[in-house]
Amino acid sequence: MKSILVTGCAGFIGSNFVPYFLEKYPEYHVINLDLLTYAGDVENLKEIEKSERYSFVKGDICNRELLEYLFSEHDIRGVIHFAAESHVDNSIKNPGLFIETNVNGTFTLIDVAYKYWMEKPFVHTPGYEGCRFHHISTDEVYGTLGEEGLFTEETPYAPNSPYSASKAGSDMVVRSYHHTYGMDTVITNCSNNYGPKQHDEKLIPTIIRKALQGDTIPIYGDGKNIRDWLYVLDHCKGIDLVYHTGKNGEVYNIGGRNERNNNYIADKICEILDSLLPKEESYKEQITYVEDRAGHDRRYAIDATKIETQLGWRADEHFESGIIKTVKWYLEKYNISSEKIEKVK
Ligand SMILES: NC(=O)c1ccc[n+]([C@@H]2O[C@H](COP(=O)([O-])OP(=O)(O)OC[C@H]3O[C@@H](n4cnc5c(N)ncnc54)[C@H](O)[C@@H]3O)[C@@H](O)[C@H]2O)c1
Repeated sequence: MKSILVTGCAGFIGSNFVPYFLEKYPEYHVINLDLLTYAGDVENLKEIEKSERYSFVKGDICNRELLEYLFSEHDIRGVIHFAAESHVDNSIKNPGLFIETNVNGTFTLIDVAYKYWMEKPFVHTPGYEGCRFHHISTDEVYGTLGEEGLFTEETPYAPNSPYSASKAGSDMVVRSYHHTYGMDTVITNCSNNYGPKQHDEKLIPTIIRKALQGDTIPIYGDGKNIRDWLYVLDHCKGIDLVYHTGKNGEVYNIGGRNERNNNYIADKICEILDSLLPKEESYKEQITYVEDRAGHDRRYAIDATKIETQLGWRADEHFESGIIKTVKWYLEKYNISSEKIEKVK
């Protein structure tokens, strides 16, 4: 049995990733290190909490002693690093925390991995040759696009928010450990995810929740900001593929070729709710425009050619199929059963 350390899995993407990964690979023991900040919730991992191949450790990726203990106690042979502060709005209010967790945390983690797996630069401790560090990052490191063009792995970094700057910094730390010390690293830069288990604060859960509560649905600015939306399980499958078959030292962009603006997303969710839980007026009547986010990037879009052609990845969902699954999942979360849906009808 191989032990791998997967960080931040009480959050959105990690809690979708670990159940998928454990089911697919019976040979892994997954140790989830998560600080359980406001963004982490162990409820997200209920379905695997009893698995003998899963261990949960509450702790901080900035805590070097704890990391050293975990590496030697479990003889860690790989890292998939999700843990981060991830909400752009919070990074505008409290940038220091983002630098601490995302930059210093990533540095501490990869430095401990380096010292456990390698004797000196480009020389592995015998038996640890295949140990890989996979860093999960975002397309936001590339900045913003005009109406045309796509982010490729060659696009120069131009982060615009404290969040994306901290992720860009962490990517550079990982890159340097590959080039300076010869560590086996891969980085994936993914577009906006959506799906089950996402924190309430993010755009799609907010639209669904506010709609159901009968509140105004807040949309920033003119609602024309474009993101390239990817269903979370498609991201998880891409991570799995890169972790197992990606080329050492490489970067892979992951995106679903599903560019949609915020107006479209709000309308689509309202239409789904109009059909599942109809009321007198359409949920669209609740949409309200609010003051734009400071420094709000206009458009992100990923060119996923590299992972598609080199590793054979392709998104299984398009936005219109994934969003129905997502809305239904939130209705269940809020205990709105099909029976109640029938009653409302
Ligand atoms: N959500 C997206 O659309 C998206 C897109 C591309 C990349 N990413 C990246 O994917 C990763 C996961 O994103 P997410 O949306 O699941 O985030 P999230 O905010 O839902 O979860 C983050 C998790 O990290 C944990 N954490 C925070 N600080 C920690 C620390 N110091 N030590 C240990 N654990 C800590 C939190 O408790 C939480 O469980 C992040 O690195 C993010 O930058 C996210």
